[in-house]
Amino acid sequence: MKFETPATTNPIDQLKHIGKPTPRIDGPQKTTGTAPYAYERHDRAPDAAYGYVVGATIAKGRITGIDASRARAAPGVLAVVTAQNAGKLGKGEKNTARLLAGPEVEHYHQAVAVVVAETFEQARAAAGLLRVDYAPAKGAFDLAAAKGSAESPKDPPDSHVGDFDKAFATAPVKLDATYTTPDQSHAMMEPHASTAAWEDGAVTIWTANQMIDWGRSDMAATLGIPKAKVRLVSPFIGGGFGGKLFLRADALLAALGAKAAGRPVKVALTRPMMFNNTTHRPATIQRIRIGATRDGKITAIGHETWSGDLPGGGAETAAEQTKLLYAGANRLTATKLAVLDLPEGNAMRAPGEAPGLMALEIAIDEMAEKLGLDPIEFRIRNDTQVDPAKPERPFSQRQLVECLRQGADRFGWKDRNATPGRRREGRWLVGMGVAAAFRNNLTMKSGARMRLQPDGLVVVETDMTDIGTGSYTIIAQTAAETLGVPLKQVVVRLGDSSFPVSAGSGGQWGGNSSTAGVYAACMKLREVAAGKLGLDPQKAEFVDGRVRVGNDSRPLIEAARDGELVAEDFIEFGDLAKKYQQSTFGGHFVEVGVDAWTAEVRVRRMLAVCAAGRILNPTSARSQVIGAMTMGTGAALMEELVVDKRRGFFANHDLAGYEVPVHADIPHQEVVFLDEVDPVSSPMKAKGVGELGICGVGAAVANAVYNATGVRVRDYPITLDKLLDGMPAVA
Ligand code: MOS
Repeated sequence: MKFETPATTNPIDQLKHIGKPTPRIDGPQKTTGTAPYAYERHDRAPDAAYGYVVGATIAKGRITGIDASRARAAPGVLAVVTAQNAGKLGKGEKNTARLLAGPEVEHYHQAVAVVVAETFEQARAAAGLLRVDYAPAKGAFDLAAAKGSAESPKDPPDSHVGDFDKAFATAPVKLDATYTTPDQSHAMMEPHASTAAWEDGAVTIWTANQMIDWGRSDMAATLGIPKAKVRLVSPFIGGGFGGKLFLRADALLAALGAKAAGRPVKVALTRPMMFNNTTHRPATIQRIRIGATRDGKITAIGHETWSGDLPGGGAETAAEQTKLLYAGANRLTATKLAVLDLPEGNAMRAPGEAPGLMALEIAIDEMAEKLGLDPIEFRIRNDTQVDPAKPERPFSQRQLVECLRQGADRFGWKDRNATPGRRREGRWLVGMGVAAAFRNNLTMKSGARMRLQPDGLVVVETDMTDIGTGSYTIIAQTAAETLGVPLKQVVVRLGDSSFPVSAGSGGQWGGNSSTAGVYAACMKLREVAAGKLGLDPQKAEFVDGRVRVGNDSRPLIEAARDGELVAEDFIEFGDLAKKYQQSTFGGHFVEVGVDAWTAEVRVRRMLAVCAAGRILNPTSARSQVIGAMTMGTGAALMEELVVDKRRGFFANHDLAGYEVPVHADIPHQEVVFLDEVDPVSSPMKAKGVGELGICGVGAAVANAVYNATGVRVRDYPITLDKLLDGMPAVA
């Protein structure tokens, strides 16, 4: 099915299942421990041995020698695989650094070996006996120092609208400020883990991967075997946040280890390996300049951002939202990329927008203060319903102003004291902050296969993944809606590369795109089923388990009487995304208390009001947003990978040193979705929410801290050492 013109009324609009709060259908499997994750015992790999990954202890240089003799002789050891005996390996299209180092080492904890043994403990013990000698080389590890040598990457190109320099120079009110965000880690609960088994030159890998087809292609490319010889199975994933978008070392080393040992092998990265072996969200330095008239109209807005990555890697695209979020005739965005020899930087939840809005939405708060305007009013005055660079190109839907207005009412914004540091409750200085949320809505081709079984069950098969987001449930809702059957009659099978290729879970495109693909396949099944029943597919209605044309009504199950019906289709998207800017919007509201003596920050209340198209399942959508608000709070107050600038690695590499919020850090959170259907997005009229939820949270917290204390911190995370010196005198 090609989606080229805005959706009209279709079976999804019945809203018998779609739009209803629906508990996740995979909940019982997860809560009873019967959901098969990658590191479980799999039927076809019952006797899997254990692989332990050894990481490089230098950040850059060469391996000069490997002595594996003691490791090989250790009890239980079955194989030791290094670049010396792994055979020729290619490199996946989506990987910047190779997943097995040698002889070059590109980053700290890049894998140099996997030791395979009968038990995990034997593998770990033997790994300690492996001797690897290195010739270290000098690397670049400090973004601030490398900033001067940063260059413009191909993507994204810089953008210029009007004459920014002139408009900024002549603006009556202006701001020129620099903000920094640190390197951050996905820190998902389930580590990167894979179990691999070979049979007749083909490998099956049970793994934790958000994008099955990308992983399958890159595994084939790395091993140098046809894609048809690689099967990836990833039905349950314990969180990804972008860290599992790509093939990683666990999967490759499980495959290599299994080949060397001649039997199935499982590999999980230990927590301390995850931070430096895998990818992370790169640190940024961002300079923002805003010029405005005295009545608060933006005349010039400029956003430049610097980040670093390994040679061949990409930039953190933190200026992109500034092209679209606010009006203004003169505009500039620029992205600069420096070479850094730290572990690979890559996508983490709302890559680009999340750190970009952490800076931009403080700048907007600062500018509002200079203008003597309420920060919500300042945002409203600079709303735009069209792409500011191409006024003929409207937003398909844009309810930012409604999000901010409704949020202000619900949160009690009128009680905020505009003068910082004035509200005191006992030992607490109390402040409120607001920020806009913005994240683009991307659409991706997505396929599915439907089966109508003789027993009446409807089976959906697609390689879509569920990373805790609720994919199983919204896909079941979609099939139930389109085919007119009860939810419990739908069986959803996900995350297997033997199923049709889907959009996968990334960039918050998964929910809308994958359900649209299932909708397309269901419409195909309707045709097949109606035809089988001798009914006109164009006129047939599918309701209450029956297929009806006028007075002629038959049970759907009759269509499968002679055997299972199978139908397959995919959704692909035309150029509606060119004609319309498709984005999602929100307003984040935060109240904090800051201890007047110690500067400890406690978040007290949070509210998000979101406008993101049709909400397919308010229960799982809300979960996505409160999770994202929690992650945004972590980014604001605690998360930071600390760079050892001499040796080139992240020094804090566990959940004791890399702090993420726990329950005690997070207060009452409220999420409101505005009524919205976006017929431009897909037949589902839905958009993404999973990344929107984090966008702007950090700045809302920062602005609340400023309102509480009068201390403006522009370098995240906002730890108390950055506040103490500027705190108001207390008695
Ligand atoms: Mo997302 S950072 O594309 O999983």
